[in-house]
Amino acid sequence: MRETVHLTIDGCEVAADPTQSILQAYARSGAELTANVGCLGQGVCGSCRCLIRKDQERQVSTALACETRVEAGMQVSFIDHFLPAHVHRYDLSDIRDSWGLLGQIRAVFPEAAYCRHCSGCDRACPKGLPVQSGVASAVAGDLAAAAAVFDPCVMCNLCTLACPENIRPNHLGLFVRRAIAALTLRPVDLMRRLRDIETGAMTVEGPQPATASGEPAEG
Ligand code: SF4
Ligand code: SF4
Ligand code: FES
Repeated sequence: MRETVHLTIDGCEVAADPTQSILQAYARSGAELTANVGCLGQGVCGSCRCLIRKDQERQVSTALACETRVEAGMQVSFIDHFLPAHVHRYDLSDIRDSWGLLGQIRAVFPEAAYCRHCSGCDRACPKGLPVQSGVASAVAGDLAAAAAVFDPCVMCNLCTLACPENIRPNHLGLFVRRAIAALTLRPVDLMRRLRDIETGAMTVEGPQPATASGEPAEG
């Protein structure tokens, strides 16, 4: 017979098979999955972010519940969704060429220049991304390097929670990735299809995608 481990999740004692992830154990305990879960264990949505303290350890660490195995005596607390105090607003159509991009980063994310290199974001990242260096690359204008750092980011916001300078590194990374995409030529097949939808040569069912000119296609 397989061993059972006991742990607490959000203050409730849960018995689990040691091969289960925290999220599986939580779901099988009968808890209603109304929050803290999005992709159901694919490790891509970041919504199952949690704090973990292992048995007999004082240190608390961050993790994704769907990617972390249960352990006996573990204490787990999900981190609820939180609203950021400051939202960075920008319009991608303002990005016309790469010359002005560094200036736009400084204008939209002025706090990024004040990174104190505390590595809090690196320690918080459950994906093990070198977040601090991604921020430094973006501030220095090495956008390809910054985009490469944040490519696997799941937007769990743990780096933002950890940052004492309110830098919101993942949102800076998203801006850089969006900016690079905005400056890159779209695949020709995609452009052709969007033109066909725009001119009515092709019809689609359901919600209409944006057309080649960026306007929503008429349904
Ligand atoms: S970079 Fe930040 S938001 Fe992205 S996975 Fe790491 S901690 Fe989560
Ligand atoms: S947590 Fe903030 S201040 Fe610290 S290294 Fe990361 S971005 Fe810089
Ligand atoms: S449920 Fe999506 S990352 Fe864990």
